[in-house]
Amino acid sequence: LVASGPSIGQETFRNTVTGDVLDIDANAPAEGRDTPAVKKFLETGVNPYTEVPGCLPKGEEVYLESCSGCHGHVGEGKVGPGLADAYWTYPKNKTDKGIFETIFGGANGMMGPHSDIELDNMLKLIAWIRHIQVEDVSDADWLTDEQKKAFKPFDLKKWESEGKAAAEKQECK
Ligand code: HEM
Ligand code: CA
Repeated sequence: LVASGPSIGQETFRNTVTGDVLDIDANAPAEGRDTPAVKKFLETGVNPYTEVPGCLPKGEEVYLESCSGCHGHVGEGKVGPGLADAYWTYPKNKTDKGIFETIFGGANGMMGPHSDIELDNMLKLIAWIRHIQVEDVSDADWLTDEQKKAFKPFDLKKWESEGKAAAEKQECK
């Protein structure tokens, strides 16, 4: 008998600060939890949307709505720490599973839980945070070796002048 913990997926997700099990089933919105990407993520802890161009515009939208006020327009940091550089207060945030746990369950102080974000959009949001990195990604646990070779530090001007329009024409899957 399993007394607690999420009933969907195989991974156990835990609060970044307390280590308590996060009840995703009970807290995530009903919308957006049955997509192939979410199912895969809950089973494997790997975000299938990483560096998928078609997923980035929505990820940016969610970021600007819920995160940029504290973390800065492009993750440069404000009252919250920078999210676009190679330093992480919690090293586990270098994994898809770890950063999901931090966003869903919150961390200390002003970093409250963001479990109100639809899970499929959460994966797009995480893909966006990964995409806006400006420092060396050779140490990035969230990229495959192939993705590391192809990755270019985020360039806001380029994104706004051409990248975003091109990404909007592509599907997120
Ligand atoms: C910490 C993401 C919204 C304030 C963090 C960390 C991540 C993160 C990944 C840990 C960074 C690290 O390990 O270095 C997000 C995302 C948000 C969001 C994706 C939107 C969904 C906010 C908001 C605030 C905020 C709205 C302010 C009200 C903070 C603070 C910390 C933090 C103060 C440091 C907490 C600690 O060290 O325990 N955030 N955040 N964040 N965030 Fe956010
Ligand atoms: Ca940082």
